Amino acid sequence: MSNILVNGGLGFIGSETVVALINSGYNPIVVDDLSNSKIAVLDRIETITGKRPTFIQANCTDYAAMDKVFTENKIDGIIHFAAFKAVGESVQKPIEYYSNNLKSSLTTLELMKKHGVRNFIFSSSATVYGCAKEMPLYENNETGDATNPYGETKVMNERILVDVAKAMPELNIAILRYFNPIGAHPSGLLGEDPNGIPNNLMPYISQVSIGRLPCLSIFGDDYPTPDGTGIRDYIHVLDLAEGHVAAMKKLESNSGLVIYNLGTGKGTSVKELVKAFEDANGVKIPVVIKPRRAGDVAENYANCDKAFKELGWKARFTIVDACRDSYNFQKKNPKGIE
Ligand code: WQD
Repeated sequence: MSNILVNGGLGFIGSETVVALINSGYNPIVVDDLSNSKIAVLDRIETITGKRPTFIQANCTDYAAMDKVFTENKIDGIIHFAAFKAVGESVQKPIEYYSNNLKSSLTTLELMKKHGVRNFIFSSSATVYGCAKEMPLYENNETGDATNPYGETKVMNERILVDVAKAMPELNIAILRYFNPIGAHPSGLLGEDPNGIPNNLMPYISQVSIGRLPCLSIFGDDYPTPDGTGIRDYIHVLDLAEGHVAAMKKLESNSGLVIYNLGTGKGTSVKELVKAFEDANGVKIPVVIKPRRAGDVAENYANCDKAFKELGWKARFTIVDACRDSYNFQKKNPKGIE
């Protein structure tokens, strides 16, 4: 059974991926520093899968701690989620973002080399495409000019991986560019549980739906889109998790460096998502129109044919599924995961 090191494996996407790995016969080894996740997630992974993965509390920038993980466990592959990821916060705290998001991946790569690990999946983001002109976005689109330090750390990490792959052709590296992850595990045990006031749209809507927040601010209804609000590619987190398993299988066939968009290929506006959430759950979401948010683009959605052609993967769940699962998670965890 292959041991997969999952850096940041108790986070929103990490924990769902750990569940998918277990269900696919892998043995995940979870490292998380709990800076943006809860230890209770480990119990919930065990409840869902019947297996309690090995867990080590550590920060991926801590070379000595991570070296111990590699020494004490035979690692066959790595999925690297561990990063700070709040766009707005990254503008206020660039030093922390560059330091954490680059050191954590560089430390992991150094230890991969030292311990002879060859398969590495990097959690990238649609923000690497910056303010792209044409939609949908393809993997060979220009990347760079991200609109914030968070996005820049993803651009830089991708550049590092391209150079590492050139220097070490024996490595198999997958760069996965996510669009907007939403939804939750159907059991309601795992879901998006941000600290403080949510930056992202779906957790904000979910908290309004149970009265934890009074009203949703729609940031701008004057974009050049059909209903004037921002359009994104919202992908169910379960689909995203399966995408990681499919990518790991691809690496095991000695793929070298591969890059995939993980999205649905469809754009959904803010107003459309609000309506889908209301219709799916029979709730009303009060909204108020506010000015545009700095750094936002009008549209951002993917073409995902490459992942289907090369991984046999495509998103199966719909926006309605995600709205239902998010609401179910929020109702069962009104104050988040405790
Ligand atoms: C979506 C749409 C907002 C909140 C970011 C990161 C991306 C990824 C996902 C990590 C936009 C509008 C939002 C609100 C609103 N994160 N909105 N009111 O900015 O597309 O992507 O999160 O990988 O990398 O860039 O996601 O959910 O913040 O915004 O109207 O309270 O919802 O203007 O049009 P975004 P988002």
